[in-house]
Amino acid sequence: MGIPIHFHPSAYPERLRQDWLESHQRRVVPAHCLYESTGQAQRWLAYARAWAPIHRGRDYQQLYERAYDLAWQTIGNAPFDYVGYGCGDGLKDANFFGSMPSPGQLETLRLMDISASLLIEAYQRLQSLKPEAWVVNLASMSDGLFQRSETPQRPLLLSCLGMLPTLGHRHLLPFLTGQLRPGDLLLLSANLSPSSNPTGRQHILTQYDNEPAMQWYAGYLIELGLPRDGFSCRATTQDLEGVEGGFRIQVMAHLKKELSLSLSGARINWAVDDSVDLFRSERWTSNGLRILFQTHGLQCLEALESEDQEEGLYLLQVADG
Ligand SMILES: C[S@@+](CC[C@H](N)C(=O)[O-])C[C@H]1O[C@@H](n2cnc3c(N)ncnc32)[C@H](O)[C@@H]1O
Repeated sequence: MGIPIHFHPSAYPERLRQDWLESHQRRVVPAHCLYESTGQAQRWLAYARAWAPIHRGRDYQQLYERAYDLAWQTIGNAPFDYVGYGCGDGLKDANFFGSMPSPGQLETLRLMDISASLLIEAYQRLQSLKPEAWVVNLASMSDGLFQRSETPQRPLLLSCLGMLPTLGHRHLLPFLTGQLRPGDLLLLSANLSPSSNPTGRQHILTQYDNEPAMQWYAGYLIELGLPRDGFSCRATTQDLEGVEGGFRIQVMAHLKKELSLSLSGARINWAVDDSVDLFRSERWTSNGLRILFQTHGLQCLEALESEDQEEGLYLLQVADG
């Protein structure tokens, strides 16, 4: 028996190809490219298992468990719909549903990700809850992904874990706010930094500048056709403009060999000494992030932050008025 997977128009090949060409001509690799192929999905999983907070100790796992308990307390026994944006391999969604108080209350479960390979893993983990699996490109979305039922108006729990650093606050926060109706809940995770001074940044940078991370970033360029000795990668940080204490981790590839590709009649020509913007991830201080929530009309019902102030989980809803 196969797995049914839906493709949203944002992930139709023609649309992805256009975006791919336009960004690669500017020498920017869109975030989703690092996850999409089977090889990249596996390399990301290897990196995540070594470095992602959820795999790095009991403190972080307890943080997630507490956030799930609070979400269940807020939902109560009411029927609800669930959407997992950027669900990856579905590990966190499966953990969440592991403590569902009343199995009959889940009406629809939608899992969404750009990577069909990761979606299959997520689907298999959550199969008993009869999920719908959707390949989507959240980076190119501005409006709703699917029609919400008017009657009955069931609340939605929108889970968006690990996505804010990846897609960035400028795109993702307005998009998420636009998806929420009064009574809906947003469970959002964010990568935090206790401070934004050079020592604090250097400490955070080690999480992105290590062997499994470099293999993951480099894997994409190797799949494109560059040999491993055809480029070197360097990770740095920059201020996030207009966000108190926020910064972006950026990995640039410096080319030592040229790459010339043609796709649908268009060409990508990368020359020796060109720099390619390969990876970006955002970090916030707790305070900077709360200001951003307010700016985007999101009210924080619960905020859970790890003792080391490196991981935050927030239960949010659209603010009144
Ligand atoms: C950092 S991982 C987080 C995965 C999972 N939610 C977790 O917390 O472990 C980011 C996820 O977003 C997905 N993703 C990245 N860009 C995307 C896009 N433009 N549209 C949809 N999914 C995307 C990736 O495939 C990956 O599964």
